[in-house]
Amino acid sequence: MSRDPGSLSRSMYFLGKFLRDPKRVASIVPSSRWLGEAMTKDLGLQTGDVVLEYGPGTGSMTEVLARRIPEGAIYLGIERDPGFYEVLQHRFPHLRFHRGSVENVSQILRITGTARPKAVISGLPFVSMRPALMRSIIEATRDVLRRDGIFRTFTYLNAYPMPGARRLRELMTACFREFELSRPVLRNVPPAIVLTGRS
Ligand SMILES: C[S@@+](CC[C@H](N)C(=O)[O-])C[C@H]1O[C@@H](n2cnc3c(N)ncnc32)[C@H](O)[C@@H]1O
Repeated sequence: MSRDPGSLSRSMYFLGKFLRDPKRVASIVPSSRWLGEAMTKDLGLQTGDVVLEYGPGTGSMTEVLARRIPEGAIYLGIERDPGFYEVLQHRFPHLRFHRGSVENVSQILRITGTARPKAVISGLPFVSMRPALMRSIIEATRDVLRRDGIFRTFTYLNAYPMPGARRLRELMTACFREFELSRPVLRNVPPAIVLTGRS
């Protein structure tokens, strides 16, 4: 895909990616704007702050986040899939994206000359991830965040009792000074819960 194809084609493209790599894409449709709003509210971003987005995919959350970033704040999206990376670059020419894996976030910040983030918003499929990988990403994120930083991610409501979702809650509780769960975002398909850790 060489350019941004519009919403319907983006959804079909996303579905195709899911069918080819279900573990890494983990959803058949991009997140809704309602989930995007829940994920990006009250981040307290100010001019000069850095916000990272992990796994922006086709940019459904990026679109909401971009509207909420104050002038002079810095966005960096980190996406490992080359096709999604290309879509993002065409869809959001004013934003910066890095093609790579968030496991290497510290190195990516160094290479791109990006300061410690105030906020990290994640669309990664933590629940289906190997436990060691989940741990290394959460710990690396805690280590790069600013002191007053926020890490935010989501899980689907139906996955709440699954071992991966439980592991994620336990890990976030252990790694962050404060941890909270949102009310379910019922208008998302499937409904989701937002998890917030504060450093
Ligand atoms: C569930 S999709 C979410 C896409 C989008 N944020 C949304 O909510 O619609 C997961 C995304 O994370 C990306 N991803 C998975 N593992 C990754 C990793 N280790 N580093 C960077 N991106 C990753 C996938 O390529 C995919 O774009």
